[in-house]
Amino acid sequence: MTHDIQSELPIGVFDSGVGGLTVLKAIREALPAENLIYLGDTARLPYGTKSPASIERYATQAAAKLQAQGIKLLVVACNTASAVALDALREAMAPLRVVGVVEPGAAAAARAQPGGRHLVLATEATVRLGAYRKAIAACDPQAVVREHACEMLVSLAEEGWSHGDIARAIVQRYLDESDGHNPDTIILGCTHFPLLRDTIQDVADEGVILVDSASTTADVVREALRADGMLRGGGEPGSLRLLATDGATRFARVGGQFLGHDLSYSDVELVDL
Ligand code: DGL
Repeated sequence: MTHDIQSELPIGVFDSGVGGLTVLKAIREALPAENLIYLGDTARLPYGTKSPASIERYATQAAAKLQAQGIKLLVVACNTASAVALDALREAMAPLRVVGVVEPGAAAAARAQPGGRHLVLATEATVRLGAYRKAIAACDPQAVVREHACEMLVSLAEEGWSHGDIARAIVQRYLDESDGHNPDTIILGCTHFPLLRDTIQDVADEGVILVDSASTTADVVREALRADGMLRGGGEPGSLRLLATDGATRFARVGGQFLGHDLSYSDVELVDL
């Protein structure tokens, strides 16, 4: 396949649910000409409470589904799948380039607050593996990192309950549990959590900086495509295909909040993995 034909292929993006749309949105803003295809594995959400073996199997099946559509690069827009299965995915998808979100998120935090005190809010699986602690230590050895599992925030985001008293109370409870760390940075180490950004910012101590991996991941994608000569040129905006493994209506309702524009269930294709 020539590079011209390859550059027309979409970028594949997947997550366990609608959370990865926060990353897709950042890629769309940074690279508006790119064609995109997104898969939310809503039938098997959440990934964050599952065993590493199940997460790896689910992630590999989701990635294979996207690869079968014909893609030029794969973005694992799920911290949990990135933490658990990035190496396995790279091996299974080779020579396709696979970009995860943990390293870009860690780099964003290290840049926002060098030598900082970071509190990572993430899923149980991401925390269990110490994924952010290791990734931040690799780029900023002076940083002090605490990781905290906040699985219920995934449900709030999927439910579309990101604002209001219930969301505030749950965020407060999680932040209270990590009392004593006095972070200067909170890392949104799950792609669902940017939807709760306002609530978390509101509940956190004044001056705490919130960081997520969306825009840094988009930068990594741009640089990878540029290096491979596969950026899509021309002024035409790229296309967007949305796939989900269950619940097209719910996906459209909540996904619209993530993307910032209305979606209808007919915008979402249901697929089996
Ligand atoms: N959005 C996923 C992440 O970034 C996790 C949500 C889930 O538990 O499935 O970790």
